[in-house]
Amino acid sequence: MAITTNPLHENFALEIIGLNPEQDLSSDVKALILKAFNDHSVVVIRNLFMDDESQLRFSQIFGEVEVSLGANPSSGTKFARQSNIDIASGTIIPPDDRRMAYQKGNYLWHMDSSFKDRSSLCSILSAREVPPEGGNTEFCSTRHLFESMTAEEQDELDALTIEHDIRFSRALTGFAYTEQEAARFTTASHKLVRTNPNNARKSLLIGIHAWRITGWSEERGRELIESLNDRAESLGVYSHKWLPGDVVIWDNQACLHRATAYDTTKYRRLMQRTTIAL
Ligand code: OGA
Ligand code: MN
Repeated sequence: MAITTNPLHENFALEIIGLNPEQDLSSDVKALILKAFNDHSVVVIRNLFMDDESQLRFSQIFGEVEVSLGANPSSGTKFARQSNIDIASGTIIPPDDRRMAYQKGNYLWHMDSSFKDRSSLCSILSAREVPPEGGNTEFCSTRHLFESMTAEEQDELDALTIEHDIRFSRALTGFAYTEQEAARFTTASHKLVRTNPNNARKSLLIGIHAWRITGWSEERGRELIESLNDRAESLGVYSHKWLPGDVVIWDNQACLHRATAYDTTKYRRLMQRTTIAL
């Protein structure tokens, strides 16, 4: 079957159709996937039905897989698990469980691992079990936002450094780290504007982990960061309705993403994420 593509949104996000990376990871196919990723920021491939092993193999196309930190139930492994299922027992985790409270942070626009000194190039999320309704993942483009600005505003932003901290963002959602967990994190400083070395296109490193602008008062920094987050969303959202077997790859340097609600007491959802370090 020939490989074709289908745009999912006018500004970003592309579906690749007819790909079976299990059988065909030739250098041509790898190049095609990487080009789609660099050009479109969000890449959807359906019917892959990955398991952990094939996901790790596929992930290596993009680079080095990071080990997850923090309070995610899969912390310490190469996966971040987004799920309401307790892996040991196979049963649904109650909504008041700490593991569910942690995942609430995903409902706010964010970039995975933006709070790390070595931030993330991309995330790869594979759908293992999906609810029949709700639980979409949504995306918006901080590249499109940057490219839609005047040259004057672009230049102003180009000069800024932004500090990301997950202790700040999790506190916003009411999640308290233990002292031991919190000690694993620091505040990460990044240039607000990121240039993709493959195509020279620029984007903004924002989202819920973005805390303050270096050298600015916290209040002024919050005003800028919140308005940039809002503007990225207002320029257009792609909402991905998951089917089992789907894989979505997103650029953590050029788009924001967020989870959306589903009935966690009624439906099962199991998604496995690998995260590629920049
Ligand atoms: C993630 C994430 C959203 C979702 O895996 O990083 O934010 O819908 N997931 O599960
Ligand atoms: Mn995420």
